[in-house]
Amino acid sequence: MNSEELLALVKKRRSVFPAQYAKGEVTREELAQVFEAANWAPTHKKTEPWRFVVIEGPAKDRFREFIKRVYVQSTPPEQLSDRKINAMMEKCDKSDKIVLINLLDTYKVPEWEELAATAMAVQNMWLMCTALNIGGYWSSPLNIISNMDEFTPMEEGEKCVGIFYMGKIDTPLMEGARKPVQEKIRYIDL
Ligand SMILES: Cc1cc2nc3c(=O)[nH]c(=O)nc-3n(C[C@H](O)[C@H](O)[C@H](O)COP(=O)(O)O)c2cc1C
Repeated sequence: MNSEELLALVKKRRSVFPAQYAKGEVTREELAQVFEAANWAPTHKKTEPWRFVVIEGPAKDRFREFIKRVYVQSTPPEQLSDRKINAMMEKCDKSDKIVLINLLDTYKVPEWEELAATAMAVQNMWLMCTALNIGGYWSSPLNIISNMDEFTPMEEGEKCVGIFYMGKIDTPLMEGARKPVQEKIRYIDL
């Protein structure tokens, strides 16, 4: 791969939401490639803090009920919205796989470094998804991720930092937009 091809892949990666997913399975073989890419993220002190939990099959129904319960319990009754609940349910139904992005703190480096490394792992997996025509996006609803141990047990030091919804895609991705990078760089040469 040359530098232009690499940049093209990086620019092609998009947040693809479940409403856009096509029918079809994200296979174990594809997931293996996605997680292999994730696993090559850099870390300080070789901590490799990323952990992934794949929710599939009937477990998706249990997850759907879990996020609905947390939403209902953590929202004042007058603010509860059926539209929101239906959207949350649909997200689970339309995703073929749902991956919990977890961070296992080794306490060898500051937590922000573990989080930075985990985010780099997610970028790697997201790029592999792009190469495999798998849509995905990182969702970070605080009320849900901070209660994830009610859905699945967490090890000591492990916490959920996001939910990565995944599904096959069969239509071209929208083009992204960014402000010019020149505005975000300073050179110091004196
Ligand atoms: C750490 C992180 C958390 C995110 N959480 C959410 C979220 O909770 N809901 C959402 O719709 N998008 C979420 N996103 C996706 C962003 O909205 C998306 O990446 C951004 O709009 C840029 O679009 P792109 O990914 O297509 O380039 C998150 C992205 C990151 C990196």
